[in-house]
Amino acid sequence: MKVGGRSYRTIWLNADGWGVDVIDQRWLPHEFRIATLRNVGDAAMAIRDMWVRGAPLIGVTAAYGVALATREDPSDAALDAAWERLHATRPTAINLRWALDAVRAHLRPLDPAKRAAAAYAQAAEIAGEDVKINRAIGHNGLAIIRSLAAKKRPGEPVNILTHCNAGWLATVDYGTATAPIYLAMEEGLPVHVYVDETRPRNQGASLTAWEFVNHGASHTLVVDNAGGHLMQHGAVDLVIVGTDRTTAYGDVCNKIGTYLKALAARDNGVPFYVALPSPTIDWTVRDGVSEIPIEERSADEVHFVQGLGDDGKVSRVRISPKGSPAANPAFDVTPARLVTGLITERGIAKASPEGLKALFPERV
Ligand code: MRU
Repeated sequence: MKVGGRSYRTIWLNADGWGVDVIDQRWLPHEFRIATLRNVGDAAMAIRDMWVRGAPLIGVTAAYGVALATREDPSDAALDAAWERLHATRPTAINLRWALDAVRAHLRPLDPAKRAAAAYAQAAEIAGEDVKINRAIGHNGLAIIRSLAAKKRPGEPVNILTHCNAGWLATVDYGTATAPIYLAMEEGLPVHVYVDETRPRNQGASLTAWEFVNHGASHTLVVDNAGGHLMQHGAVDLVIVGTDRTTAYGDVCNKIGTYLKALAARDNGVPFYVALPSPTIDWTVRDGVSEIPIEERSADEVHFVQGLGDDGKVSRVRISPKGSPAANPAFDVTPARLVTGLITERGIAKASPEGLKALFPERV
């Protein structure tokens, strides 16, 4: 996608041919900073401290993290240590384990002298595959937007609500939930997006809104609590969110607050779709509510808000009284029964074991 007229992906090889450049998302939307990861510790820190975030991008960064580790030490022990270190960074997004397992399984049988080159090649392949998957999700989701647009008066937009950032910053390019929106724009369909700010880290306000400003997408930023009201008043035609892990039975784990949007959507007859790249499916898990580990992040994310001051500097301010305890569960699970459909790279599946199996028969 474009930033200031120049095309970027969210992760790429540094000009030195081995360092890994990423957009340091902690500073957006106020500052566009690029950071270079030079060892597995850098990669682990970038994931843990959310320089990079979003399930697909976490997976790709982890794959490059293994490449950086293997470059320094290609032994079996170092490979396992890199797997453990990177896996411990964030517990919920399943793409992390998926990418680490894939790279380790690929490298293990190789002569250690060949492992670093193979790891870089595989990380690049996973990154390239992510872009293809997202474009395919975009095409499949576009069909939903087209059919809603067909019921509108000429020029009247399809109104879409999205939560958190499942945009290109959460992936390598295009995004998952945003891919159908970007393709609808390419096709000239009028779309308007309500962007949930997404407390506590405000990925909607700081990242999705920034993407839309850069891409010229018509949007309105709303507080998280506005969604139900908007749906009640007919302002939302469609909800599309991303996911950090979806079970083989169709339960969808995504950024905290997603479940409430799904409840409001069901109560108001608004279709609720989830954009789902296949590496985000956890085929080993059946019941999302009881089986998916929910990341509990620092209470500071609730107590403090980061923003741009009148002095032009990015800083954080406290919004709660000192001494007030806070809890910060980062994700929730929307049961399959509330999900209208899963937009995958292979088509739109029902959120059910049968629906997923029909599209991914090799996983049965
Ligand atoms: O905590 P984050 O920012 O890594 O969480 C990301 C999300 O939950 C996104 O909303 C998303 O839907 C999953 S990534 C496409």
